[in-house]
Amino acid sequence: KQFDLVIKNGVVVTSGDVGPLDIAIKDGKIAHLAASIPEDAAERAIDAEGAYVMPGGVDAHVHLAQDFTSGPGGVTGKCADDFMTGSRSAICGGTTTIIAFAQQNRWEESLLDVVTAYDRGASETGCFSDYAYHIIITRPDVEMLKRELPVLVNEWGITSCKLFMTYTAMQLRDNELLDVMYEARKLAVTTMIHAENGDLIAWLTGECGPPKSIHLELIHTAEKLEEKGLIEPRYHAESRPPIVEMEATHRAIVLAEMIQNPILFVHVGSASAAAVIRKSQTRGFPVYAETCPQYLHLTWEDLKRFHSPQCFENSKMICSPPPGPDDSDQEALWTGLRNGTFTIFSSDHCPFRYDDIRGKALGVLQHAPSMEGSTCPIDQDHVHDIVHGKTGHFKYIPNGCPGIETRMPLLFNYGVMEGRITPERYVELTSTAPAKLYGLYPKKGALMPGLSDADLVIWYPDGRMTPFSLTNDRLHHNVDYTPYEGMSFTNWPRYTILRGKVVWAEGQLLGTPQDGEYLKRKTSQLTTAAVRSIADDKRRVATWLYK
Ligand code: URP
Ligand code: ZN
Ligand code: ZN
Ligand code: ZN
Repeated sequence: KQFDLVIKNGVVVTSGDVGPLDIAIKDGKIAHLAASIPEDAAERAIDAEGAYVMPGGVDAHVHLAQDFTSGPGGVTGKCADDFMTGSRSAICGGTTTIIAFAQQNRWEESLLDVVTAYDRGASETGCFSDYAYHIIITRPDVEMLKRELPVLVNEWGITSCKLFMTYTAMQLRDNELLDVMYEARKLAVTTMIHAENGDLIAWLTGECGPPKSIHLELIHTAEKLEEKGLIEPRYHAESRPPIVEMEATHRAIVLAEMIQNPILFVHVGSASAAAVIRKSQTRGFPVYAETCPQYLHLTWEDLKRFHSPQCFENSKMICSPPPGPDDSDQEALWTGLRNGTFTIFSSDHCPFRYDDIRGKALGVLQHAPSMEGSTCPIDQDHVHDIVHGKTGHFKYIPNGCPGIETRMPLLFNYGVMEGRITPERYVELTSTAPAKLYGLYPKKGALMPGLSDADLVIWYPDGRMTPFSLTNDRLHHNVDYTPYEGMSFTNWPRYTILRGKVVWAEGQLLGTPQDGEYLKRKTSQLTTAAVRSIADDKRRVATWLYK
């Protein structure tokens, strides 16, 4: 037969167009789009029944199989999901491509070694979705960058790096940020910034003074949260009021403008940071930004919801930056998704189990004196006692929420179905723009015959799915909670298709960990054009620097 698979009767949506079209697939690629493609032209047909058919999701910010040996905050924390379980969860929520972080610890001298080891882990478990890597740089060694960045770009197709302005063991000083941005610019490596003022956070918490070396000795400062005994999980947000993110965002823009290097802000959580980004974009300096579901659906109230000295449950919601104080931030972020302030929408899936002493329960272990030196980190009864019996210090709780499977459904239900964004904008935010930003387009993020992989998400027709409230047992990650427990949904991906193979159909997982392929990325297709025509006023910056 002419085709392998035909998707009939759907409403096809791309980042630019919506229309009733059939889609034919051959050898894993989009082969043909037309008003009508006969069923018998293909081995198999799927009836999409007037429902939306879209390019598969590209989740450009996930943490899998990552050991936070050096942080966040200087503690250990172990991701509960590896490439196998995390990507399984991804495809069940309509995501067909993920980009995960290979993380350098500050004592590690070679990024290539970091990536090689990380890649070995991914090959061992396999991956249900296609996958690529970003590199987290915590050791700003310029000689190493000169040697290794070209190899990462040319041999690995790793064309983006993430830099941290906070977390004791990861934080780069301004001069170090400049060093990395300067090297990144030469190769058009997209620089992703975690923008929070780490010194300000440490000072508010009750610690100050940057570590002068890889030895993490912190100086105590009096009268701050710690000394007042305000250490329960909910105070994590109090240690990071929105101004912390706003200042760092502004500072990173100044540094990037000096280098004339476009940057991308990851996980923007507050209206004030979004406003700073918007201002720079309006002025013409290219700044890209990402926001995530937790900032649209959680507030400080969720941190307080479970608040009690006996209960530790609000540790589930701890992520950095924290969600905004109230829903006025949420409205501003929705506006940013509509008006283009936000380029992409990612999950920041950062999976720590609640009942795991290497996960959220770590904060309790670190704090409770009776637990110190405990030799039974995996005794679950013991963990349960800790979690329910004691309160922990927020600074020891690993930061991050799971969300790889809920990202696409949340934005579909609360964005598209509630009329906050158009279907085309939905596709742009969740698939096309991340593919362009990270050099995967038009293989990913598009439906171009002959060029695009046949990665699709097909929704239920309106009214076809019985509305339900989300419970964690519906999800396929290895985390024992979801921050979105109890939220209602009237739609969910009905089919997920990866390079022509149906990997998720009507609640059934059909894919395997052998399905996913590693993606060597090109340089960014959004930022490269901007590099050439960047400054609005060349007198503002040091033009001699990049001649
Ligand atoms: O709280 C968060 N976001 N944890 C994940 C690590 C990061 O900074 O993205
Ligand atoms: Zn981050
Ligand atoms: Zn993250
Ligand atoms: Zn319990």
